[in-house]
Order: sequence, then C-alpha cells, then structure tokens
Amino acid sequence: MMTLSETLELVRPNIMRLKPYSSARNEFTGGNAILLDANENPYNLWNDDLIVNRYPDPQQREAKLKIAEIKEVSPEQIFLGNGSDEAVDLIIRCFCEPSTDSIAIFSPTYGMYSVCAEVNNVQVKEFILNNDFSINLQQFFNGISPSTKVVFICSPNNPTGNAQPIETIEQILSKFRGIVVVDEAYIDFCPEKTSLSLLNRYPNLVVLQTFSKAWAMAGARIGIAFANPKIIATLNKVKFPYNIGVPSLSVLSRAIEQYSNTKSLISQIVSERELLRLRLQQLSCVKMVYPSDSNFLLVKTTDANSVYNYLLNNGIVVRNRTHEPLCNNCLRITVGKPYENSKLIQILNTYRP
Ligand SMILES: Cc1ncc(COP(=O)(O)O)c(C=O)c1O
Repeated sequence: MMTLSETLELVRPNIMRLKPYSSARNEFTGGNAILLDANENPYNLWNDDLIVNRYPDPQQREAKLKIAEIKEVSPEQIFLGNGSDEAVDLIIRCFCEPSTDSIAIFSPTYGMYSVCAEVNNVQVKEFILNNDFSINLQQFFNGISPSTKVVFICSPNNPTGNAQPIETIEQILSKFRGIVVVDEAYIDFCPEKTSLSLLNRYPNLVVLQTFSKAWAMAGARIGIAFANPKIIATLNKVKFPYNIGVPSLSVLSRAIEQYSNTKSLISQIVSERELLRLRLQQLSCVKMVYPSDSNFLLVKTTDANSVYNYLLNNGIVVRNRTHEPLCNNCLRITVGKPYENSKLIQILNTYRP
C-alpha cells in the first residue's frame, strides 16, 4: 500500500516544478466586478441565460459542489475534464516519462489508454484477461517493472461488459507501486460496484467516471476524475485553463437538477438490456451473449464480419470487435430505444449465412 508522499513521488519532476498558467479569473469569486482582465467582448450575443462572451470558471466550482453531493466525496477530490479521455491523457502526462515509463492495460479494453500512451511515447504493457474476463493478478504482478507507473482497470470493461470484483481492485491497489486508474465510465448501470469508497484509503487511486453514458450527455464532453486532493491539484495544474465550456457546464447543471429522471431512464435501459439479451439468445446467428454490467452486450456470433456487414447494409451500426483478443466473432451492441432494439432483432432474424 502506498502512502501519499510515496504517491506524489511518482509525479514527473518537471510537472512537480511546473508553475501553472494563472488567470485573474482563477482567484475571482465575487459577483458584480467590472471584468477587464481577459480581453473578452463585453457584449453577450444572446439575451438569455447562456452567457458565452465570458470565459468559464477554470475550476468549475459550482459543478463540483453538486457532483460532490451526489457522489459523497469532497469537491477537492474532483477533477473535471473535456470527457474522461482528457483525464486519461493528463494522468499519463503527469506520471509517465516519455520513452522511459510504461502503463499497464488488461485487454480487450477501451482503446484510448493505448492511444494516449503512444501519443506520449509511453510504452504499453498489455495483459490479456482470463477467458471469463477476470484479471490474472499473477501474470500482472510478474509482468510489470519499476517503470510501470500507471495501470488502467476498466470496470465495467468495454467491450466485455463485466465489472471487476472490488477485491481484485484492492489487491492491485495494495501491492502495485504506481497509480491505479479505475475507469468507471459505465458505473451508473451498476452503482453498487463502484470503487469510490476506497478513495480515502488509497492515495494512488484515481476513479474515472463520465457524463457521456448513463447521464446522456456525450455531446457535452464532461468527464470526472476522483482522487486524493493532491493528485487532483496536479491534474489541474496541467489541464488547459478553460477546458470545459459554458454551454457544457450549463447543460450539466440542468442534468443534475433532473437526476431522478435520469435514474429511472437508467433502470429502463437495464431492463431493456435483459430483454434484448433473451431475444438475441434465440437467434441462430448468435452463439452466446456475455453477462453485462453496462448498457451494451458483447455477442458472440457465428460470423461477426458477415453479420456486421448485413446489419450495416440494413442501416444498423454496431461495433465489430472480432479482432480484439478473446473476442473472436464478437459484436458489441449498445442497448437502444425499444423500437431500435426490436428493429435489430427483426433484421437479425432475416440474416442467412
Ligand atoms: C471505458 C470508457 N472510458 C472512457 C470513455 C470516454 O468517455 P468520455 O466521453 O467521457 O471521454 C469511453 C467511451 O466510450 C469508454 O468506453
């Protein structure tokens, strides 16, 4: 188990030394000041609530207060990014020395961990999940090196759909001498499986969540990293000052107000997922449907390329994962609206190999 000071030693020395860009607005919290500090246009183009002639709050204080309340953490434990993709990139840039350090991933998994690592010239150590999509801890601990600074655990995992047991995550947290990122992009579909409760015990834990999936705001581009306040301060130092725009923050505030509606939408999607599973399992082109803690199903077909193209020719786009490890002939299918799911089944019923 790492202490906070050991964790902070993992920050790249140049990032530790970095003096972040500071705007006058960073320190300003008052209401009616005359703002002549940021070379903005003083006129707002619209006479409504959306004031876009001014830069947004670089620390997104209002949004963080509301998120802190919902997630039962402190606002200082929250980083907001331009999607959780921004947090993935920042974590790699803060902790991994280009051309020296590595990250670890468990494949098949979300592709952006590798992409961000490669952009930053950081090596990727790839560990293949077990056949039941669980993590092979022994293989992981044998395969990492002292230069492996960050491990990404996607839970629930994209594209396999399963969440990792909290015990597995804790075993990694207590033994791994680096940053443990648990990407919970799909956690709102199985909130009881979150690792957020471990946050106060492990200073090397970063939990990623997003407003892009269950919260129905993929277009707003807002993701969250939860971590120790010192880690959050490090990410804040490196991010672009105004990384989330006023329209996105405004949409976020509206979404938080109608959180209870969102929760009932989420349970509708979860029941629709199970209905879709039953209907898929009856099709002759489907060999098996894997268990899912998320809003998509990984489906093993008789011939993924052929089924994929058949669906595409009939106006339905799914994700072909057949070239991913352990995913031979698998398609990843997002749970849509009831009529979209019915159309999918109807078309698959007419598929002939
Ligand atoms: C596991 C996982 N993490 C992160 C993301 C990206 O989320 P965001 O829209 O917040 O950048 C996705 C999107 O598909 C995902 O599947």
